Amino acid sequence: MTNDSPQPHARNLDEALLARRALLSSTAAAMAAAAVTSPLLHIDQAEASQSSGLDFDELPHGIDETHHVAEGFTADVLIRWGDPLFADAPGFVANALTAEGQSKQFGYNCDFIGYFPLPYGSNSSDHGLLCVNHEYTTSDLMFADVKGFNPYPAPTRRHVDVEMAAHGHAVVEVKRRADGTWAYVQNSSYNRRITASGTQMTLSGPAAGHDRLKTKDDPTGRKVIGTLNNCAGGQTPWGTCLIAEENIHYYFAGDPRGTAEAGNHLSMGLNQSLFFSWGDYINRFDVEKEPHEPNRFGWVVEYDPYTPDSVPIKRTALGRFRHEGATSVISAGGQVVVYSGDDQMFQYVYKFVSTGLYDPENREQNRNLLDEGILYVARFQEDGTLKWLPLVWGHDGLTPDNGFADQADVLIETRRAASFLGATPMDRPEDVETNPVTGSVFVALSKNPFRRAFRTDAANPRERNRAGHILELIPPGGEGALADHAATTFSWTVFLQAGDPQDPRSGAQYHADVSKNGWLANPDNLAFDPKGRLWIATDGASDFDTADGVWATEVRGTKRALTRHFFKCPVGAELTGPAFTPDGETLFCSVQHPGQGGGSTYDKPTTRWPDFEADTPPRPSVIAITRRGGGSIS
Ligand code: FEO
Ligand code: CA
Ligand code: CA
Ligand code: CA
Repeated sequence: MTNDSPQPHARNLDEALLARRALLSSTAAAMAAAAVTSPLLHIDQAEASQSSGLDFDELPHGIDETHHVAEGFTADVLIRWGDPLFADAPGFVANALTAEGQSKQFGYNCDFIGYFPLPYGSNSSDHGLLCVNHEYTTSDLMFADVKGFNPYPAPTRRHVDVEMAAHGHAVVEVKRRADGTWAYVQNSSYNRRITASGTQMTLSGPAAGHDRLKTKDDPTGRKVIGTLNNCAGGQTPWGTCLIAEENIHYYFAGDPRGTAEAGNHLSMGLNQSLFFSWGDYINRFDVEKEPHEPNRFGWVVEYDPYTPDSVPIKRTALGRFRHEGATSVISAGGQVVVYSGDDQMFQYVYKFVSTGLYDPENREQNRNLLDEGILYVARFQEDGTLKWLPLVWGHDGLTPDNGFADQADVLIETRRAASFLGATPMDRPEDVETNPVTGSVFVALSKNPFRRAFRTDAANPRERNRAGHILELIPPGGEGALADHAATTFSWTVFLQAGDPQDPRSGAQYHADVSKNGWLANPDNLAFDPKGRLWIATDGASDFDTADGVWATEVRGTKRALTRHFFKCPVGAELTGPAFTPDGETLFCSVQHPGQGGGSTYDKPTTRWPDFEADTPPRPSVIAITRRGGGSIS
């Protein structure tokens, strides 16, 4: 293993942190003495004697037109873009899309997947609801007459209407058959499409009703049509789904510089890359005509998948930025904590801590827990501690003198408020996941090639970070349910630095035994299986001449950070939304944007996955991975 990048600094843990669980503090101490790649940071005797379930034969690196899973497993396509969800939905017909039809079919570019057992309150692993985000559309692979990806040549209003109906989210009832394979239920009463054009939502929390959220169509500042660019998400313990609005700047035409929201819109990236022509046809997507409309996006949306006509709610207390996801966990004291990364280079990692406490016996009581609480942003310190800085109006410069007239201003311009407090600019924060066994929190940082040596720090240690890395944040209190996620001081460590460890310039750091196929690049989505093993999905590995896919690793013991290559996407695709059933026997994954980029066109796509039929374009799809003959994946 070659590593010429700066090491995390020696830990100087304060007393409170030293009081936290022995296992993790010994890990941190070992970190200070050894590289993060040390194969032996801590041996849990019980764990060391137990053989790892991650003993599958690894896939080779490489890229081709289809998907691959490790020997001994099957990866079946469960539902594809355009598959009908309702009795009156049309079947998929290539290049004959209508907005009406698309609004009743599975949407495009599936991302986050939440598995919600049926019935509600059960732990079923063979019957449930799949709640799936449809992040964006790749229109030059959807329509024969749209050429080019960015910027789009102006399509017609018809194209725009189909695009809007293909965005959003889907709820689909799924069942596991006796033979172990999965199928979706076409006409389930639970099935639902949420779209950018057709779903009424409300805004709640401290910013709801604020003047900066009011528009001509909505003088109340409390009602919004649609949700945009839903990337990752989360599931609450009370059975609701959280869907995160990420790259909202792709959708708003017009020059924000002449509007009263200029600084705010420019900081969110408006006017820098427009991927959609919706503003040519719909006034609210033109900031010169409706300068407040972008303020109604960039939130976390909560809805109840068990109630098909429930109104989705944009929870403003969780802040407005390019939310990658929204992962909730109950802290030892009963507060709900929601972690979320802001997916842009040099942006921040956040958590929200509810004021109210979760009541496992009373679902109704939990309904509005996400409306009241404190949003914090992370400052990673060189001594291995992490300070969570509260974004509270009236404190620490978040005052009228600095352009924050009230808490709504702090939440609408979360990025500016976080900068004010001295948060740590990160290497592109993506998914954040909590380990159900250890209680620690993993943060994927996909890359930051723009980080120069003078801007490196202990938590973002590599200049020109092309491959990304993963941090482990360690709350005080104890393992699992004892972890105090509400605490304002954590410790942290680098879990791995991605890239090819054989490349002496990469600065990659893993377990010393990682194989030539076991290294990964650009970690994006994360999932834990029920045993607390980490499954890492990537976005961008083609820059390293291999397909995106899934890698799995232990997070402690002798095989910590020994990543192993489990699944490989077809060319052009990234892997999103990994989600396990409660029994760990099925891993659902989204294969997003197959065939995108690399000169691929509608007429000559680089792949026609998964149908491989002449004249049928590639179709983003959800797959279900199971072990041949049954049993836990790991
Ligand atoms: Fe939508 Fe951060 O990827
Ligand atoms: Ca993502
Ligand atoms: Ca995740
Ligand atoms: Ca991504």
